[in-house]
Amino acid sequence: MNATIHLHPHFIIDEVDPRVFGGFLEHLGRAVYQGVYEPASRHADESGCRRDVLAALDRLRFTAMRYPGGNFVSGYHWLDGVGPKDQRPKTRDLAWQSLEPNQFGTNEFLALAKRMRWTPMMAVNLGTGTPEEARQWLEYCNGEPGTKWADLRVEHGFKQPHDVKLWCLGNEMDGHWQIGHLPAEQYAVLAQQTALMMKMADPTVEVVACGSCAVELPTYLAWDRAVLEHCRDAIDYVSLHRYVGNADNDTPNFLACTNSVDEQIEATDALCKFVHQYRKTKRRVYLSFDEWNVWYRARDGAFADGRGKFAPHLLEEVYNLEDALVVAGFLNSFIRHADAVKVANLAQVVNVIAPMLTRGDELLLQSIFYPLEMYAKRREGRSLRVVTDAPSYDTKKHGRASYLDASAILNPRTRELSVFATNRSLEEPMELELDVAGGTTSLRKLTSGEIVTGSDPKLSNTFEQPQRVTSRPFAEVSLGSGGSSSSRATPRVKLPPLSVAAMTFEVGS
Ligand code: AHR
Repeated sequence: MNATIHLHPHFIIDEVDPRVFGGFLEHLGRAVYQGVYEPASRHADESGCRRDVLAALDRLRFTAMRYPGGNFVSGYHWLDGVGPKDQRPKTRDLAWQSLEPNQFGTNEFLALAKRMRWTPMMAVNLGTGTPEEARQWLEYCNGEPGTKWADLRVEHGFKQPHDVKLWCLGNEMDGHWQIGHLPAEQYAVLAQQTALMMKMADPTVEVVACGSCAVELPTYLAWDRAVLEHCRDAIDYVSLHRYVGNADNDTPNFLACTNSVDEQIEATDALCKFVHQYRKTKRRVYLSFDEWNVWYRARDGAFADGRGKFAPHLLEEVYNLEDALVVAGFLNSFIRHADAVKVANLAQVVNVIAPMLTRGDELLLQSIFYPLEMYAKRREGRSLRVVTDAPSYDTKKHGRASYLDASAILNPRTRELSVFATNRSLEEPMELELDVAGGTTSLRKLTSGEIVTGSDPKLSNTFEQPQRVTSRPFAEVSLGSGGSSSSRATPRVKLPPLSVAAMTFEVGS
């Protein structure tokens, strides 16, 4: 089939906020213990972190890293996780029915974040916690020495403030499963008070209020409106969460599910703009898409019940090729909505619904690792408006879907244009033309290209066969007769069925 992507270097949506390429590390299952932190592993460094896991995470160049939950945070008291390790209590985590030894806490996470160049994004407990507890934690993290909670941090060996700028006001408080779940109006009061106190303590912080965590909930959007209208200028972002799956085993429909991610973003953004105008707030609130992924197999029942154990195997989803294409679809959607989505966090980063799994001292990179890596390498720059012209198909749940899903980032620093394109067809290759400014701007050469593809959408990596779904270099791009620097080029690309490609071009004039 033939398809075209039309772009123009001046049709800019917005700068892509680097924090859109964030991750999420929760005290859940084996994400922290046996994930990033395992002092007994032969890979452990002097701080107890696993070098092999950190090296793989480094390849994904995560930016904003959300911590410590998730559902976990709604029963978490941060004081349990600071101070001498041998004096920290073992606690019961009700959210995941697990044993929490508190050997990894605020300072361990923030030291790791610094080392990994992550922007820490901390969630406060608004389930069993209070605005005052949140405010104290902020003072512990960011206060200059000389007051009670900042001095406690100094006593714990951290003289310099950690300077944590981004804070979430609880987690999924609209969900009936959440410890401390409240009606929207009551959460809004709690969030506004917490935001106010936190900003009084440190006016440089930004806060994220809980928006709707699932489009299926009956309070979807009504919750957001109540929160936005009450919190008004106290908040900077509202959160969105989304987990998708292919329980019906309908691959074409599943591949199109990211169309509904576009709708979710656009509806929530419209609400933010509405409240901004209607309530005459100082500025509009932006979007923090702070949990997203494919998650449906290892989801309920035994997969989510730790049975009182330490580091139980929970939510250990095994990913396949079709999941990798859907992950690329989420990233395309965030890039296309760069003017609205300012933070996004893949949930999660290791072992728990994650791009990598540990087994003893072994490490497996799952299929979804590869698109994440391909996009992360090319994330710097401005999102360009992408107009596609491609055949489409009917889906069961997502209306008509294009076979082509795409986004583009222009990096003015390197003068490179990156194009991301997914062929959703299961059978047909796609002859794709890149029309840049109607042919008035040339793409001089392909500086790098990578692709993830395969014939079977259900193909997964295993510890025994770890290379079944990976990325490989992709150079099947012809710059046409105009391929020299002196004349115009309209690149043509051949995308195999079930594939996602990331291509970076040097831009001429
Ligand atoms: O990421 C797993 C869980 O999904 C999080 O703890 C929760 O916020 C969401 O429901």
